[in-house]
Amino acid sequence: MASKLWEKSVQVNHDVDTYTVGKDREMDMYLARYDVLGSLAHITMLESINLLTAEELATLTDALREIYSEIEHGKFKIEDGIEDVHSQVELMLTRRLGDTGKKIHSGRSRNDQVLVDLRLYIRSEIEEVVNVMTVLFKTLISQSERYKNVLMPGYTHLQVAMPSSFGLWFGAYAESLADDLTVLRAAYEITDRNPLGSAAGYGSSFPLNRTMTTKLLGFASLDYNVVYAQMGRGKTERIVANAIANIAATIAKLAFDSCMFSSQNFGFIKLADEFTTGSSIMPHKKNPDVFELTRAKCNKLQSLPYQITLITNNLPSGYFRDLQLIKESFLPSFDELKDILVMTNAMMSQIKVNEHILDDSRYDPMFSVEEVNRLASDGMPFRDAYKKVGLEIEAGQFKARKEVHHTHEGSIGNLCNGQIENLYRSTLEKFDFNTYHTAFAKLLGRENG
Ligand code: ARG
Repeated sequence: MASKLWEKSVQVNHDVDTYTVGKDREMDMYLARYDVLGSLAHITMLESINLLTAEELATLTDALREIYSEIEHGKFKIEDGIEDVHSQVELMLTRRLGDTGKKIHSGRSRNDQVLVDLRLYIRSEIEEVVNVMTVLFKTLISQSERYKNVLMPGYTHLQVAMPSSFGLWFGAYAESLADDLTVLRAAYEITDRNPLGSAAGYGSSFPLNRTMTTKLLGFASLDYNVVYAQMGRGKTERIVANAIANIAATIAKLAFDSCMFSSQNFGFIKLADEFTTGSSIMPHKKNPDVFELTRAKCNKLQSLPYQITLITNNLPSGYFRDLQLIKESFLPSFDELKDILVMTNAMMSQIKVNEHILDDSRYDPMFSVEEVNRLASDGMPFRDAYKKVGLEIEAGQFKARKEVHHTHEGSIGNLCNGQIENLYRSTLEKFDFNTYHTAFAKLLGRENG
């Protein structure tokens, strides 16, 4: 019995099949519900150009909605011997509806299906990432406000440099996320375009109504050129992966700071006990494993754009099976990122800050610039003031006055957290998730629920 959509007279070699299908069945489970949504839009459009009758459309729509709900309830499976999700859905329709099921593939190719499935998947996943990222952003801002008067040392070259504060430290990571959101928003905009209708990558002689499927799937617009639409495979993933990597880089740095600052030699922060792990040999140990794994997971995510670049490098235009492999590292990366963000938020909201770091005289020299500036404000030329304080330090006579008067924008005394919140919010407001939610509800016949 033929088990491939494309199998005709020659039987497929089993080893070749195993090799080429690889992990695709597992990966395609991420895409299953989107494959059904894509098909719902496609058949609605096929009926409008008379390639399906109204009755066929109604029967197919019901059957696809049923499959969708099976996917939601964990009852959908890509069977052994079935190549991918696209084949599985078509097979189920054919089993249930006979010849009508075989009609849905008119004017379409699996290259087209996987393209649209990926866009729909990415769009939903970005929405979830934005939601958890926003929770973390708010936590960082509120911790920054809460600890804005608690000073800590700032470092350059890991040498004690100048006074900093926990207000600055938390707020810096909030602002970093605001920039990461800007890039994610750009990646979303590129994702939010409909590639469906490119068929195998060169369009179709059927008069497909691509504007219609664009609306039905709640896309902002479409990839116009069908060759370019196919070129979007790999390119979209790489752009999105870069956006993911930015967020990961922000969190990796935060994780490293946190590991370092919680070490006894710093003692700046304390992690809540439930976020530390013990040692099998040293009874006193409370290790920051959660931050260490966060750092490593973030570093791993930062390799994603490079993997995609290497898989797609030097491929000419047009579809190639190489592209399939991108799914293996790309699709699970959203869950990894969301886990990281949720865990980081939990740790950041419970972190305990040492309010007496500067009682330790080893940090006194960092007030030297404050003293130089004070002398300079009183009229002494800066270079002379610098020398005077330098000589005092060398002679062990420097007396630190531990007050700081930083008032300019973004400094210890003027964090500009309100402006940082505005920056984040203005980007957040540009995301329009409602259009696609409404479109999906319509396709699924769930407008009123
Ligand atoms: N599993 C394939 C992929 O991810 C689906 C497209 C198959 N197309 C083909 N021409 N073999 O790329």
